[in-house]
Amino acid sequence: MSSLTTNGVAKYGARATAILHRTPWRPPVASSAQGIYITLEDGTQIIDAVGGAAVSCIGNGHPAVKQAIKDQVDKVSYVYNMQLSNEPAEELAHNLIASSKGAFDLVGFVSGGSEAMEGVLKTARQYFYETGQPQRRRFIARQLSFHGNTLATLGLAYHPTRRAPYAPLLDTETFHHVSPAYAARFQRKDETEEQYVERLRKELEDKFIELGPDTIIGFVAETVVGATTGVVAAPKGYFKAVKSVCDKYGALFILDEVMSGMGRMGTLHAWESFGDGVSPDLQAVAKGLGGGYASIGAVLVSKRVADGLRDASGFWKHGHTYQAHPIACAAALAVQKVIAEEKLLENVAVQGPRIEAQLRARLTGPNARAAPFVWDIRGGGAWWAVEFDFENEEARARGYEGKTFGFDVQAKALENGAVVMGFMGGSSLDGLKGSHCMLSPAYNVTAEEVDKIVDIFVKSVEQVLAENGL
Ligand SMILES: Cc1ncc(COP(=O)(O)O)c(C=O)c1O
Repeated sequence: MSSLTTNGVAKYGARATAILHRTPWRPPVASSAQGIYITLEDGTQIIDAVGGAAVSCIGNGHPAVKQAIKDQVDKVSYVYNMQLSNEPAEELAHNLIASSKGAFDLVGFVSGGSEAMEGVLKTARQYFYETGQPQRRRFIARQLSFHGNTLATLGLAYHPTRRAPYAPLLDTETFHHVSPAYAARFQRKDETEEQYVERLRKELEDKFIELGPDTIIGFVAETVVGATTGVVAAPKGYFKAVKSVCDKYGALFILDEVMSGMGRMGTLHAWESFGDGVSPDLQAVAKGLGGGYASIGAVLVSKRVADGLRDASGFWKHGHTYQAHPIACAAALAVQKVIAEEKLLENVAVQGPRIEAQLRARLTGPNARAAPFVWDIRGGGAWWAVEFDFENEEARARGYEGKTFGFDVQAKALENGAVVMGFMGGSSLDGLKGSHCMLSPAYNVTAEEVDKIVDIFVKSVEQVLAENGL
C-alpha cells in the first residue's frame, strides 16, 4: 500500500461507496464550493490550488455563469445537433473564431478533452480523405505526452504508465513517436538551445522520411506538456522548426491545448506565448473552455482545413450525441465572457510571477529545506510545476529514493487544506523516474490566496521531507 493510500484511508476512511473510483480509497466528498474554496462533507474548508485538474479557471459559483446556465435550462436544455442547432453554441463558435485573431475559421464542439483530441484526429483524416490524399494515414506525436484516455488518444500519446495496461490494444501502425522537447532533462550539456531544437527538428524530419512523408497526416504536440512531465514548454524556436517540417511535406501541424489553452498560460491560446506564435492547422481545447461548469471541449479548425472540408463534403463526419450541448455551450460562453470582461488574464499576468517568485524563494532560497531536492521550477501564466530529484548525496545518505514523493506531497497538502496535484514518472522516457507537483489556480486568484497556496504547498513538501529524514 503506498503512503498516499495509507494517508488517504487514514484521514478519510475506507467508507462504503458504489462508485468505481480512480483512487484505491473513497475520496472526501465536496459538499459545496465558492470561488476557489471547497467545503467537505465534514465541514472542513480547503483551497483548490489546481482548479481540479487545471479546469476551474474562474472558480466555483460565479453568479454570471450560474445565471446563464439557469436561463438556458429555461429556454432549451437539449437538441440533437444533426437536427437542430442552438443559440449558445452558435454564439460560442463565433466568439472562439473572433478571439483567435484569424487563426481559426470553424469550430466543432464535443464533451471533453479526449473527445476533442479524437475529433482532431478524425477531422485531420477527413481533410486528407476528402482532398485527394487518402494515402495519408499516420500521425507522429511525442514521447512523454498525454492526449487523453481513449484508446486512440492513448495510442497517439506516450504516457508510459497510463498506456501500459492497454499496450496490446494500441494502434502502432497509425501512431508514431519522436522525442519530447524537454530541455531541463534532455538537452545535452554540449548543446546550445538552437542545436537542441535543430536535433529535434531533424529527428522529426527523419521520422517523416522513414514512414514515408506522403503517409503522414500530421504532427501532434501539447503546446505546454501537462500530465506527463508537468508544465514543460518547448525551447524557443521549436514550434517554428516542427511546423516547417509539416509544411515541407504537406502534413498538418496539430496542437493539443486541452490543458494549456483558453488562458491557462496567460494568453488565450498557449501558442501565442509559448509556441513561437505559430498557429496550428487544428487545435483541441477543453478544460478552460467550460471552466468546470459543464463538460465541453472543442476542435478549432484553421482556414486551410476549413476550406478543404467546405470544398468537399462540407460537413463534419464525426458525431457524438452530446455535441454542442446547449447548457454546456451556455456555460462555456458565460465563462469566456467572464474571463474577458473581468480582465482575468491581466490578473494572471500579476499573480503568475508572484507564484513563481514565492516558489523560488521558499523552495530554493537560502535555508530552504527543499533546496537540495528541487530540480526545476517552471511554468507561466497560472500554471506552475516543481520537479523534484532525489538522485543526490543527501537523499542517498538517508536511503530515500523519493519514488512516491509527488503523491505524498499531494496527500499531505490535502491534510493541510489545499488541493495540489502530484505526479510521478515524468523525468525519464520509461516513466519510471521523477516526481513533480503542479499548481494551477483559477485566473481570478488573489495575492492573498497565492500566498496561502504557496505556504501550504511548501509546508507540505517540507513535512514529507522531514518524515523521510531529509
Ligand atoms: C493535454 C491533454 N489532452 C487531453 C486530455 C484529456 O482530457 P479529458 O480528461 O477531458 O478527456 C488531457 C487531460 O488532462 C490533457 O491534459
